[in-house]
Formats: sequence, C-alpha cells, structure tokens
Amino acid sequence: MGHGGRRMTHAQIAETITVLEGLHYRRDVQTTLRTEFDRRLYGRREEIRQGVVREGRGIALLGASGSGKSTVIEHLLKRHPELVLPDPGRERADVISFRVPSPASLKEVGRTALTALGYDLKRDRSATIIWGIVRELLQKRQTLFLHIDEVQDLKTSQSKQVIQNVINTLKSLMQHPEWPISIILSGMPEVRKMLNFDPQLARRFYPIALRPLSFTGDEEMLRDMVGSYLHKAALPPSSGIYTDEVLMRLLHAGAYEFGIVIEIIIAGIGEALMAGSDCLLLEHFAMAFRRRTGCYDGLNPFLAPDYRDIDPRKLFPEWED
Ligand SMILES: Nc1ncnc2c1ncn2[C@@H]1O[C@H](COP(=O)(O)OP(=O)(O)OP(=O)(O)O)[C@@H](O)[C@H]1O
Ligand SMILES: [Mg+2]
Repeated sequence: MGHGGRRMTHAQIAETITVLEGLHYRRDVQTTLRTEFDRRLYGRREEIRQGVVREGRGIALLGASGSGKSTVIEHLLKRHPELVLPDPGRERADVISFRVPSPASLKEVGRTALTALGYDLKRDRSATIIWGIVRELLQKRQTLFLHIDEVQDLKTSQSKQVIQNVINTLKSLMQHPEWPISIILSGMPEVRKMLNFDPQLARRFYPIALRPLSFTGDEEMLRDMVGSYLHKAALPPSSGIYTDEVLMRLLHAGAYEFGIVIEIIIAGIGEALMAGSDCLLLEHFAMAFRRRTGCYDGLNPFLAPDYRDIDPRKLFPEWED
C-alpha cells in the first residue's frame, strides 16, 4: 500500500480506507467477554450431554454509543471456532442475534426474534403465541444463546408494565424447564436501570462495562492505536502527532469512546491521503472532525484552545442553544 509521496487516486484511497475500517483492534474486554461466554457455552453443552437442566445465565454488555458494543460481540461470535452460526441450510444455530425493534412492544420483540430464527409469521398473532413459537424454535434449533442488541430501545416511551413483561419473558426463556437459554444483552448504560429494576434478573447477569477511555489510563493504547493504523496505511506520523496535547484532543474529539476514536483516526488518515500529504498532521484530524460534525474551527477540538468544553457528539454544534 506504499505511496511514497505520490498522490493516490480516489480508488486507491478508498481501498486503503476500506482496509482500515475492516481491521479489528484487539482490546482487553474481548478476553473477559470470551471467558464468560465460553463458561456458559461449554457448561451448557456439558449439561446437555449429561442430561441435566440448569437455568441459563446472561451477560450484559453496556457502553455508550461508539464504545464498540456491537463490534465486540460480532467479533466474539464470528471468530469463535466452535460456534454454529445461523445458516439457512442448517437447523442447528448456537446463537441467534437481533436488535430491539421500534416500536418495542413485547409482541414486536417476539416477532423480530422469530425473523432471526428464520420463521416467517404469516398471520398476526398475540404476543403469547409468538413467544410460544420462539421458545419452540429455540429448542428445535438447539439454540444456546440469544443476543439482543440496542436493549435501551425497550425503554423508549414504554410503561413499567411493558418492561416488566419483557423482563418476565426473558426470565422465562432462561428458566425454561426443558431448554433454558442464556441471554446476552447489549446496550447503552441506562440498560442497568432495567436490569436493576428486577433483582431476580440482575443476579442472573454477568456485567461487562465498555468504559470511556481516559488519557491517564489509556495513553499507551491510544499511541498504539494511532501507530497501528498509520502503519497499516503506510503513512508516517508528523512529529507533533504523538504529543500528549494532540492525543488528548483526539480523545476528546472521540468523546472518550474507543470506537469513535478509531473512526477519527481513520478519517484523519483519509484526509491526509486526499491531500497528498506525506505524513499525518494535526490539520488532517481537524479536517476529519469538521467533515464529521459540520463545526466551524472555534468548535473543533483539534483547533479550539478550550476544547474540553466542546460536546464532540453534536452535529452543527454552533446552532446549539
Ligand atoms: N475493536 C475494534 N477495532 C476496530 N474498530 C472498532 C472496534 N470496535 C469498534 N470499532 C469501530 O467503532 C465504531 C463504533 O463501534 P460499534 O458500532 O460497535 O459501537 P456501539 O457501542 O455498538 O455503538 P452504538 O451504541 O451507537 O450502536 C464502528 O465504526 C466500529 O467499526
Ligand atoms: Mg451498536
């Protein structure tokens, strides 16, 4: 992918960026998640082998938008050597994964689960019937895990009653007398309220947090992240890029979230390549951020003196009131 000062074509730049976007940067939380997942996977398989039934347990993976929840779970499931993933030609599916639909009534969640299980619901049915079919299909397909993403969407405009109904349904899947399953929930930090709302549910989940990054705790990783992506793009850094000041601005621009920081690193590299620059400069990060949010320079965390006051998640920030 070397380009030694020559201007790359749009197609070449697109190729490089797509490669960068496809990279998976390893992080510690993957190991925790994998360990907890495997504990349940192998435990359950052994129980099935010995013909014993224990109730399922869950994992709750919570983090802000851009923390990398969906990615870390997708990576876990797709790279697991011993998992049978859903495949139209095969009945067995160890894991079924779906997102909470909108609007998120008990019935709509059930209907989405059915679709994920490959079942085509031809007529309108009640929530009770739909969840009955879900339960049967989970058993028929020998599913061990149900992964539900965007769980915070259950809460939007819902009464406590609806949430309690969903919770009860999830609990009943985990406690099913013949075919209990484990549930993986991922979503925004407010999902903890839903879990804590019911102590019986809370004690069945192993919590994993995707915490915001901090300069003190993650400085080394941050340098390594920038370095790895530059290396892959065969683009050298400018001497200023690795200063604490620039890295702190990068963290702030990425809202202290792992995934957003990566997106900005990649976008900065994209700007450097577009400009035909022979190294990555602060101005490329600034340009990437401007593109991302539509902000003017006074509200650009790479340029503004008092960047800590800027909310980096907002589009068109100058029109905020
Ligand atoms: N380990 C990783 N390596 C490389 N890129 C990553 C990694 N984790 C996340 N990303 C990137 O960060 C961005 C945000 O990740 P992701 O969509 O998984 O976050 P999320 O927590 O699910 O956010 P949301 O709550 O908005 O759905 C994506 O562009 C993703 O490709
Ligand atoms: Mg997500």
